[in-house]
Amino acid sequence: MQTAEIAQRYLNYFERNGHTIVPSASLVSPDPSVLFTIAGMVPFIPYLNGTVPPPYPRAADNQKCIRTNDIEEVGKTARHGTFFQMLGNWSFGDYFKEGAIGYAWELLTSSEADGGLGFAEKDLWVTVYQDDDEAAALWQKVAGLPADRIQRMGREDNYWSTGQPGPAGPCSEIYFDRGPAYGREGGPAVDDNRFTEIWNLVFMQEQITNVRSKVDFDIVGPLPKQNIDTGMGLERVAFIKQGVDNMYETDQVRPVLDRAVALSGRAYGAEHADDVRFRVIADHVRSSLMLLSDGVTPSNEGRGYILRRLMRRTIRAMRLLGVDAPTFPELFSASRDAMQTAYPEVATDWQRISQYAFAEEETFLRTLASGSQILDLAVTDAKKDGKSALSGSEAFLLHDTYGFPIDLTLEVAEEAGLSVDRDAFDTLMLEQRTRAKADAKSRKRALADLSVYSDLRAQGETVFTGFTDLETESRVLGILVDGQPATAATQGQIAEIILAETALYAESGGQVADKGVIVGPGFELEVLDVQKPVPGLVSHTVEVTTGEVGVGQTATTVVDAANRRAAQQAHSATHLVHAALRDTLGRSATQAGSLNRAGYMRFDFTWSQALSDATKSEIEEIANNAVRDNLEVTTRVLPLAEAKELGAMALFGEKYGETVRMVDIGGPWSRELCGGTHVASIAEVGLISLVGESSVGASNRRVEALVGLDAFRELAAERAIVSQLTSSLKTPRDQLPARIAELAASLKAAEKKIAQFEAKALGERLPALAETARVVGGVRVVAETLGEVASADDVRALALQLRERLGSDAAVVALAGSTGGRPVVIVATNDAARAAGAKAGALVKTAAGVLGGGGGGRDDVAQGGGTDASAIPAALTAIVTALETATA
Ligand code: ALA
Repeated sequence: MQTAEIAQRYLNYFERNGHTIVPSASLVSPDPSVLFTIAGMVPFIPYLNGTVPPPYPRAADNQKCIRTNDIEEVGKTARHGTFFQMLGNWSFGDYFKEGAIGYAWELLTSSEADGGLGFAEKDLWVTVYQDDDEAAALWQKVAGLPADRIQRMGREDNYWSTGQPGPAGPCSEIYFDRGPAYGREGGPAVDDNRFTEIWNLVFMQEQITNVRSKVDFDIVGPLPKQNIDTGMGLERVAFIKQGVDNMYETDQVRPVLDRAVALSGRAYGAEHADDVRFRVIADHVRSSLMLLSDGVTPSNEGRGYILRRLMRRTIRAMRLLGVDAPTFPELFSASRDAMQTAYPEVATDWQRISQYAFAEEETFLRTLASGSQILDLAVTDAKKDGKSALSGSEAFLLHDTYGFPIDLTLEVAEEAGLSVDRDAFDTLMLEQRTRAKADAKSRKRALADLSVYSDLRAQGETVFTGFTDLETESRVLGILVDGQPATAATQGQIAEIILAETALYAESGGQVADKGVIVGPGFELEVLDVQKPVPGLVSHTVEVTTGEVGVGQTATTVVDAANRRAAQQAHSATHLVHAALRDTLGRSATQAGSLNRAGYMRFDFTWSQALSDATKSEIEEIANNAVRDNLEVTTRVLPLAEAKELGAMALFGEKYGETVRMVDIGGPWSRELCGGTHVASIAEVGLISLVGESSVGASNRRVEALVGLDAFRELAAERAIVSQLTSSLKTPRDQLPARIAELAASLKAAEKKIAQFEAKALGERLPALAETARVVGGVRVVAETLGEVASADDVRALALQLRERLGSDAAVVALAGSTGGRPVVIVATNDAARAAGAKAGALVKTAAGVLGGGGGGRDDVAQGGGTDASAIPAALTAIVTALETATA
């Protein structure tokens, strides 16, 4: 049974049983406290803990997940995959334990002909939480499972949470017995390899907090409702149903493994170490493909780093299999072909996905080449210094700065007969990880406090009236002071205000929050910020400027109309620039972020080269033409699926909010899913002037533009500068560039001439300088200052000429001068002087000490400098004195 068919049977079964089928959310977690969707329940957290009312009482889905905490286990066990799919059925306060057990048992054991999964009852075992007598009894009653195939386990195994404060509960797991060939008798409590977990039923009933470990946390209390969260491992069921030994050999994964086998020319099933590599490749390529498909791009932090690591581990494994050449074009295509039935976007988005994947491989192969050079150097140095090991900091630097994997460092060092100070390396790694964890923790803390909004959100969604109204009278539903519920806030206090309705736009989709005021009987509040701390709830951060505001009072939100107008000009301009970019660069230039505020827009997109001036002008012109043509702006609210069908450009998926708002400008030319505010008629944008184009990290570019009056002011300021130049240079505008180039060229020529004159003038001083030679300790010495000079090079040239002129009898030249107030001194010695003990480097050092600086060099010629030009005579005297000593 193919993987896709198992998923389909699952969804069909639950649909028949009254569940709403919900599409998979993105791998990029909608919950900011975790990087990825690590379990099917992540996108449903707001429904489970009651922050957002669920739109359906029961649902089922097939959720894509990424988990990389067990990455070292991949390939070594049958079931560890970094990407996997979790089939889930959900009850939000609807059915509970009995329902969940009944459905699971029926789907697993009913025959394939009846649409079930056809497992034999005798092969199934279950575990329940230690004191969950109810679940144990239900398994006997509902499923007729004998008591000796129901085992009890502790918190470690049978209590489920995400590891974060939030919804949690005891669970019951269903295991499949693979038979005596795979391990010992005795059920999952004895051997969890032979007995493979296939489905976890979680009885989500309480809220936990202060999570210190998997088994150590505090239970806050019951959730508002008893929920069901289940997770069936699609890959696990697939490998069992397909009669293969592990998930890497299933239909969605095996083709990549086979391709790696073909590329390497080595066999699968011959050597254990190679087998692990083949499986790592098959797993990691698929995970990378799916992450790229969900908009993650390789980088050095966060999600991008995990993706990068997966790709680099793949390349590394291919190298260990003897392949140094690029392999991603082959491997990723194989994965695409295997995954596109279930996820058509990996094929439709192939151009963008492959561009990133292939570029990453090329870059890393280059890194390996240059890292190898640095490593070789470190190895050579260590050997030269008689060391037997590379230091931990060298290995860490290679890893941290050059992305050079530690196992490669170990291997290269070992080939050279060196070890690596692994303890020191591990300590540095640990320090880095601790820093990263502390970072993540501080982010999570901010999120845990969100629970205060739950009660407010439960009163309903904040209605946004600001698409049509700039003033709305409503009622104060809640006030928070210092993050805690309060009944009132008084003059001078900063507070958060929750209203039933608001005309003020909360920051989202790149558009900044509205400015404005909130007024009511006897109070006035200045709006400092407007945010949505949880979906559907708008919180206004305000300063009470007059009076006192209390819960229950009427309050009118008043939007600063001029600011809003300028912000929506910018937001509409962003859509125009986005469409113009895609017209010019093609569909693979996809949005990676944006910011719109009054008069300014910024748009980031995936693209790896700088834009030429011609391209920039073209984009600017297309966008401004759209303004001139006054393309129609329309918005409508429709189901997500319909909007996608109409080709709307969307940022990657959300689960809640299955109806979306679509904004068309000259639709379908520009068609985007967007919750922001826009101009009513596109001509209102006025003018768009691109002011910048730059790189923001690998493969991301940023364009910035001024919009409307700000664009006009920018152009007017440039016009003023041009007009100043035309009058001061007495040159018509169109001839300015040529005139300025001409001026720059003649300035350069003049400077060159001056330098020649100066050198000549210095040269003319040669005879007079030679005349000053006096004999010190049997050596002729010239020690003179030249005064102000153009450069140290001039002093050096003159000193060398002078040494020449003094002939072959022992001679030392010490010339000093100052350039722009800074002293410079050059000492030159000839062979005979050096034989007599005069060394230029040492003499310069003496002089530099007096000048308050440093210097040195070879014995024949050396240069020094300092900070105090007035000390030049003393420095020259010091040279003469030192010479006396040296030649005595
Ligand atoms: N949330 C449960 C799990 O991920 C079903 O195992």
